[in-house]
Amino acid sequence: MSTQFEIKGPLKDAAFGAKVALKQGRGARALAAAMKTEPGALPEALADANGLLLVQGLNEINDNPALLVELSRVFGPEVEDYRHTLTNLSSVHTKVPEILLVSNMAPVSKMPPPRPDPPVAADGKLPVQYPHQGGWHTDQSYRRPPPDISLFYAATPVAKDQGQTLFANGNLAYEALPPALKARVATLEGLHAQPGTGRSRRAALAGETPRAFKPHERSQRQPVVRLHPVTGKPALYLCEGGQMDWFDGPFVGMEPGPKGDGAKLLDELMSHLTERRFVYAHEWEQGDMLIWDNRCLVHAATWYEPGDQRMMWRTTVHGNPGAAYAGEAKSWIPVAAE
Ligand SMILES: [Fe+2]
Repeated sequence: MSTQFEIKGPLKDAAFGAKVALKQGRGARALAAAMKTEPGALPEALADANGLLLVQGLNEINDNPALLVELSRVFGPEVEDYRHTLTNLSSVHTKVPEILLVSNMAPVSKMPPPRPDPPVAADGKLPVQYPHQGGWHTDQSYRRPPPDISLFYAATPVAKDQGQTLFANGNLAYEALPPALKARVATLEGLHAQPGTGRSRRAALAGETPRAFKPHERSQRQPVVRLHPVTGKPALYLCEGGQMDWFDGPFVGMEPGPKGDGAKLLDELMSHLTERRFVYAHEWEQGDMLIWDNRCLVHAATWYEPGDQRMMWRTTVHGNPGAAYAGEAKSWIPVAAE
């Protein structure tokens, strides 16, 4: 029982996640102080909530972005400094380089994802299931070891029925797989590609010739069933469109390409993983912060009006990827000989 935090789950209309509030005080500074007093409480709550925590009312982070990094440090030994990880510097916060800017505003100028067609699902709700809703991924799965946890803060969200972030729970989806499919994916590996390296499904379908990789840009193998190092629970660990390698993958040892047997299996798994029963959709308010576990959740951004302005801040925490990655050097760091 925490002395500092009130933790209530699951999140609205979902089977996982929890909302965190302070027992005393409010705001980001008070939250940071409570996390120092009880440093194990929120990492434990994150594991108990199966990978997703929501904290609201942290608006003072807008004027004090370093607070977001301070909050992130509780979740692992290494908060990524994006100046050193081959990130386009226009997406890095100028004063706090541990913050990645996710925005359609200049200089980031990342356009919103496409609007699903049709714009609502058959049940009249926001589309969530792949392939109707696309863009499902887990952060930086094209790296080994991949990151553990992401924190995402709404500095300037868009209108409430747009620009949501969707989460699908890989553990719940894995448990619900038919036994034959569980057996089929038990030792399978996915080949995950860095966006921008020309390995996307779109590029493969268009018959483009992918450019040569530099060694540190190579697509990386990841287990399709990932064992969580804290909970010990298995979870589906998969991406689609732009973050799998559609030339040599999506799966190691299966027929490659966007029309091969690997593609058929990935479509089946991704469609299962993103069924509404495994999904939470977050409607952002300014000052909201979500903490998610990339080791057991995938997420996707939804469409918003391109003329509206959106600015979200993300940090990434590394350090406990699990035994499968023990002792590995960081795949994304160029070696001197390159
Ligand atoms: Fe992401």
